Parts: sequence; structure tokens; C-alpha cells
Amino acid sequence: MNTPQNPQTKPRILVARAIFPEALAKLEEFFEVRSNQADQVFTPAELQAELATVEGALLAGSERIDANALSKAKDLKVVANISVGYNNFDVPAMTAAGVMATNTPDVLTDTTADFGFALLMATARRITESEHWVRAGEWKKWSIVNNPLGMDVHHSTIGIIGMGRIGQGIAKRALGFGMNVIYHNRSRLSEADEKACSAKYVSKEELLRTADHVVLVLPYTPENHHTIAAKEIALMKPTATLINIARGGIVDDLALAQALKNKTIFAAGLDVFEGEPNVNPELLKLNNVVLAPHIASSTEKTRRAMVDLAIENLRQALNGKKPPSLINTEVFPG
Ligand code: 8YV
Repeated sequence: MNTPQNPQTKPRILVARAIFPEALAKLEEFFEVRSNQADQVFTPAELQAELATVEGALLAGSERIDANALSKAKDLKVVANISVGYNNFDVPAMTAAGVMATNTPDVLTDTTADFGFALLMATARRITESEHWVRAGEWKKWSIVNNPLGMDVHHSTIGIIGMGRIGQGIAKRALGFGMNVIYHNRSRLSEADEKACSAKYVSKEELLRTADHVVLVLPYTPENHHTIAAKEIALMKPTATLINIARGGIVDDLALAQALKNKTIFAAGLDVFEGEPNVNPELLKLNNVVLAPHIASSTEKTRRAMVDLAIENLRQALNGKKPPSLINTEVFPG
């Protein structure tokens, strides 16, 4: 940890994970910064102790902020996630403690939708499996049949579960591939939004039964833990793919590994995992799954935009202003 000497009267903040050096320099103009450029993941006790000394904190989005983490944080006013998802926040506990919670919506929508589509393509067309096959020297001759045969993406049916900004972004990309778009969401989109995506609202069961490619983009909440488990996977077509760019825990990864092994479905593409960065060893044994290390928002431009928005949230909050992406608006005093 680096703590500058001779701090003046700037508010104290914690930068809980490594960020871009220029962003850190910008923060140091405004704040007395405790930074963790070593990028060590704090234990809950370490996080609790760190939060006890600061007025604001910038998080990667994986550190749990609950009543326990906040119990000694007497001066804390704001916690800014560098992520759109905020399932690491116990929002009622933060609100009860008078701590503003912020996230980074919008700036990552297109980048994440691009990645969702890329993962779908890679999964359906067996791209990573093919690459391993080539690298292993198994490509002996061109063949009509004896090579990885995939599933078509164009003119197939995409089923999107979770039709927020990113889900709608994926739907719009799907239209360019002539796909039929169906979706399921907690609430139905407005007629105008449905029209913009040419998307048809269906039940979760109908979506699972009829989609050729099921894409998960819903937020993780206790209610949708294992929203896709053995029972749901069994409804899917044997030719279907399942893409998870939402959160680990939405899919029962062990049930998915069993289904992939038994060819209950054709393939899966996963950017997020239960207990990540650990990946269920049963998934690692399979070649009909594309694995990515939670990189859907990871482009140079977008990660910088996410950090910049989180910094802006922190600055506004510590200046007594309403941060642009405040989640628990009831905490804002004004
Ligand atoms: C983040 C994400 O990079 O924004 C989100 O919700 O999943 C990613 O964009 C990740 O959460 C960082 O922890």
C-alpha cells in the first residue's frame, strides 16, 4: 500500500485494486490516496480495516460491501464500483449506513454487447476448439466431414435473458445476422424498444425450448441464483448453445458441465463462473465450451472510460454533489 506523506486536507480515498497509472495520478490531484497497485485481493477483514480510514473507495466490482465491511467505516460517504453490475453491494446496508453506491453503466454497453456476440460466434462455430486442434497438429488434410462442424448463427433464433442495455445491444447486432430475436426479462420492454430490437417477449420456458442460441445478460440477485440449472438446460435443443456474460452463479456450472458432456446441448461460451477466478474442473475437461476470463468489457478504451466514470462518481459525491450514476438515490442529501 502507498500512502503519500504530508497529506493536506484532501479527502482520503481507497483505490482497492490496480488502475491505470494516469487515473491514479488524476485521483492524487484531488484526494489523499491509499492505493493497492500491487492488485492484491483484500480479505473481508482487510477491506473492513481499509474502509475504516477513508471517505471514499474505488472498487473493481468484486469486493463485498455489506454491514460487516461498513461496520468501522465511520467517515465513508461513497463506494464507486468500476463495473455496471453491483451484486457485490448490499445496497440496503449501504443505504442504512448513509453510504452512496455508484456503478458504471452506459460506457461499456457496446463493448460488452460486441463481446457477447463474439462469444456466441466462437461457441457456435467452434473457433477455440478448432484452434487447439490446429495447434495440436491434428489438421492432417482438408475434409468435408472430418473437421469441427458448427452451428449456424445467421437466420437462427437468439434468445436473450435479461433485456437491459447490453441485452438490447446484442439484439441489435443479431438483426445484422438476420436472426429472429426473442427475449425474456423481469419486465417487458416498451413497444418502441421492442420494435427497435425487433424482439418478441416470451416466457423463459418458451425461450429455452425454441432458441438456437441462449444468451444470459441478466443481473445477479439472490432470486436468480442458478436460474439456469439442469432442469432449464434439459429444455434446450440438443443443437443449442448457451452463452453467459452475466455473472457466475446465474448458471449451475456443474450441471452445465454434465449437460455438455452428455451432449444435452451443443456447446457453451462462458465469460463468468461460479467462484471465479476458479473454474469448475469439469468444465476444463470439455472441448465444447469456450472459456474467457471475465473480459466482456475489457478493451483499452472502455476500461479507461469505466475508471473515469467511477472517478467522476467519487469526485462528485465527495464534493457534496449527486454522482452521475448513483444507485441508492435516497442517500443523496439534497
Ligand atoms: C467488469 C462487469 O469488468 O461491469 C460489469 O458488471 O462484469 C465487468 O465489466 C467486472 O465486473 C470488474 O469486476
